[in-house]
Amino acid sequence: MPESTAALAVAGGAPALSDLPPFPSWPQGTVEEENGLLAVLRSGKWGSAQGDVVASFEGEFAEYQGSRHAVAAANGTVALVVALRALGVGLGDEVIVPSYTFFATAAAPLFVGALPVFVDIDPRTHLMDPVAVRSAITDRTKAIIPVHIAGNIADMDALLQLKQEFGIPIIEDAAQAAGAYYKGGPVGAIGDIGTFSFQSSKNIASGEGGILVTNDDALSDAIYSMVNVGRVRGGGWYEHRALGYNLRLSEFQGAVLRAQLRRHPEQQELRAANAARLRAGLIDCAGIELPPENPDVTAHGHHLFMMRFPELGRAGLRDAAVRALQAEGVPGVFPGYVALHQNEALLAESASIAVRLGLSVPEAACPMTELVCADTIWLGQHVLLGTENQINGVIQALRKVAGAVEELRAIAAE
Ligand SMILES: Cc1ncc(COP(=O)(O)O)c(C=O)c1O
Repeated sequence: MPESTAALAVAGGAPALSDLPPFPSWPQGTVEEENGLLAVLRSGKWGSAQGDVVASFEGEFAEYQGSRHAVAAANGTVALVVALRALGVGLGDEVIVPSYTFFATAAAPLFVGALPVFVDIDPRTHLMDPVAVRSAITDRTKAIIPVHIAGNIADMDALLQLKQEFGIPIIEDAAQAAGAYYKGGPVGAIGDIGTFSFQSSKNIASGEGGILVTNDDALSDAIYSMVNVGRVRGGGWYEHRALGYNLRLSEFQGAVLRAQLRRHPEQQELRAANAARLRAGLIDCAGIELPPENPDVTAHGHHLFMMRFPELGRAGLRDAAVRALQAEGVPGVFPGYVALHQNEALLAESASIAVRLGLSVPEAACPMTELVCADTIWLGQHVLLGTENQINGVIQALRKVAGAVEELRAIAAE
C-alpha cells in the first residue's frame, strides 16, 4: 500500500474513517446475559455461597483454560494478592515483575509486605526478558510474575527453566490473555498459579471480576480459603482456619461471565482475523514496528493490538500521534503504560517496607521499558471486532499518521 500524502484530520484534512458506521462498543451484553441475570434475580440466591452459578462458571473456565481448578475472586488485582499469599510470599520477600505492565502486577507484592523487583522487557514484544529475570534472582526471591501482555505470551520455557533451577514459583498474570495458547496448550496453569481479570475492558467482562487457576490441589484449597474468609471446602460457615478475605463474586457476575465465556471463542476468531488483516496492512509501513510472530504462541489472546512508532517516539511525538489517530476517527487508541520502576507510589511503598525491615529497595534499570513507553500505541480489543471496511480504514489512518512526522512536528510546535 503506498504511503498516504493526504493532510492529517487533526490539521483540517478529511478523516481516514469518515462515512463508516460506529465500531462495536465494549462490553457487549446480549439476551443471554439478560436471561442469566433475570434467572439469578428470581432465584433469590444472589450470593455464590447460596447459588451454583459462579461454581458452574469456575468449572467451565477451568475447562477452557485446561486447569484442574479455578476459583473466582473479586478482581484481577486481588487475585494476584491471593496467589502470592497462597504461595506463602510475605514480609521482606522479593517478587520479580516486569516494569511494563498494569500497576496491579507490581502493587500486589507490596500488599503482602514483599518488594517488587522490576526487570526489563524485550522491546520487540513488550514481554518480560527472562535474561533480566535470571540476573535479578537473589536468595530473597520468592515468586516471579510474568505478564502475558496484550494477549501475547511470555517466554514460559525460559521461565520454567528458572523455576526448575532455583525452585521459585511462577504466577502467570494472564489478565489480558484469556483463551491464549502456548505451544498448543492454554496459559494460566503453565506456572504454579494463573490469574485473570474480568474488568470491563477485558475480552471476557463482568464489569469487575477475576479468577485464579492452578493444577495444584493444595494451592487450590489455599486459594479457596483466602477468597472465602478462611473457610475450608465442605467445612462449617464459622470454621475459619486461615486468615482469609471475602472476595467472592456475586451470582449476577457469574451469570454474565457464563454468557461471555460461551461467546468468547467466536469473538476471538474475529479478533484474530482482523489482527492478521491489520498486520498484513502495516507490515511494510515505514515508521511502524509490530511484534514478531512467535510460533510458540499458538493462539494469541488479542486483548490489545500493540505497535511501536520509533521515529515518532524519538521525536517526542507519540502523544501527538495518538491525538492525530483519534482525529482520523480511529477508536480505542491508547498511548499505553508508564514505566512502573519509576512510579512514585510504588517506590514510596517499597521504601517504607524496606526501611521497617532494615532492607534496601532493589535497584531497577529498565531502559527498554522507558524506550517503549515513549513510542508505543495500542488499539483496544473491541477495534478488532470491526468490519473489513473499518479495519481497512484503521490501516489507512495508521499509515497516514506514521508517515506524517514533519506535519506532526509542526502541529506540536504550534
Ligand atoms: C496485566 C494486568 N494485571 C492485572 C490487572 C488487574 O485486574 P483488575 O482490574 O481486574 O483488578 C489488569 C487489568 O486491569 C491487567 O491488565
